[in-house]
Amino acid sequence: MDTDRERHSARETAFYLFTQQSLPACKPVLTPGWVIAIFLFMGVIFIPVGLVTLRASHCVVEIVDRYDIDCVPESSRMDKVSYIRDDSIPKNCSRFMKVHKYMKAPIYIYYQLDNYYQNHRRYVKSRSDKQLLDGQKYHDTSSCQPVESNNNRPIVPCGLIAWSLFNDTFEFIREGAELKVNRKNIAWKSDRGHKFGKNVYPFNFQNGTLIGGGKLNPEIPLSDQEDLIVWMRTSALPSFRKLYGRIEEDLDVDDVVVVNLTNNYNTYSFGGKKKLVLSTSSWLGGKNDFLGHACVFVGCSSLTLAIIFMLLHVKYRRPYGDTSYLPWNRKSFSG
Ligand SMILES: *[C@@H]1O[C@H](CO)[C@@H](O)[C@H](O)[C@H]1NC(C)=O
Repeated sequence: MDTDRERHSARETAFYLFTQQSLPACKPVLTPGWVIAIFLFMGVIFIPVGLVTLRASHCVVEIVDRYDIDCVPESSRMDKVSYIRDDSIPKNCSRFMKVHKYMKAPIYIYYQLDNYYQNHRRYVKSRSDKQLLDGQKYHDTSSCQPVESNNNRPIVPCGLIAWSLFNDTFEFIREGAELKVNRKNIAWKSDRGHKFGKNVYPFNFQNGTLIGGGKLNPEIPLSDQEDLIVWMRTSALPSFRKLYGRIEEDLDVDDVVVVNLTNNYNTYSFGGKKKLVLSTSSWLGGKNDFLGHACVFVGCSSLTLAIIFMLLHVKYRRPYGDTSYLPWNRKSFSG
């Protein structure tokens, strides 16, 4: 009985302390010494980290080639959309990429699309994860509007994302010999293992009157259709790169890589751009200076603040908690 009452009153006290906002709390006093030390510490940490990050980014060699305009013959440049829609015209195109700095294998091949909103709400939702994973559930296409079925039969894989699969192809030649491109292992392992089924085969795909993009080999299960898996990991931003393959040979300075591509994919109707990117990688990934610049910027600002505060502290040193500095006390001073 007694312990019960004690527990009860203890709870009441705690509740009282909480409602009266008088719980024990950490109340740091930011004295000038502490503030200066913290800013100094931040500067000392951030600047070297930023420089190391920038260095990693600068070590990455990248070649970018925009080909969507140059690959349309001059005579068709006025009306690119009807050119790309005309299936009777061959869409082959050759590009030359000059290597300006030694590139160490593996060299990643990406295609980059700009102004392509893979993050649009209706686009992102237009897929059926159940169907992609499980061969028994090929009827599960209700979430795939507006590309659910064709001739009353379900489409596998259904939905806008799969329908709009990128379908440009690239071949690489150096000094007359073909550069081998490894197109395996370009998708996430977890996607291959857990999101795209080993017993799901494309069916009735790209059979409609309006063809949105690439076709799929109906003999290969979805878990091995890596281009599709890469494409279906939708991008959050309207400019994005997707992995196409890897070149597993080094490229030397002044090598010229001839790219024979087929320019199939229609980005002309919405003003998109297509680029081909060859890039090496560092321990930090691809070429991106943002992180490095951000770190250096934060470090330098902290250091500057630390120095300013230090000077102010030395120049206008005074005891802490001196009540004569309070305005109401100061008034009596002057008055
Ligand atoms: C490639 O995709 C476009 C749509 O972007 C389509 O019109 C064309 O027929 C496709 N070509 C091939 C060869 O798959």
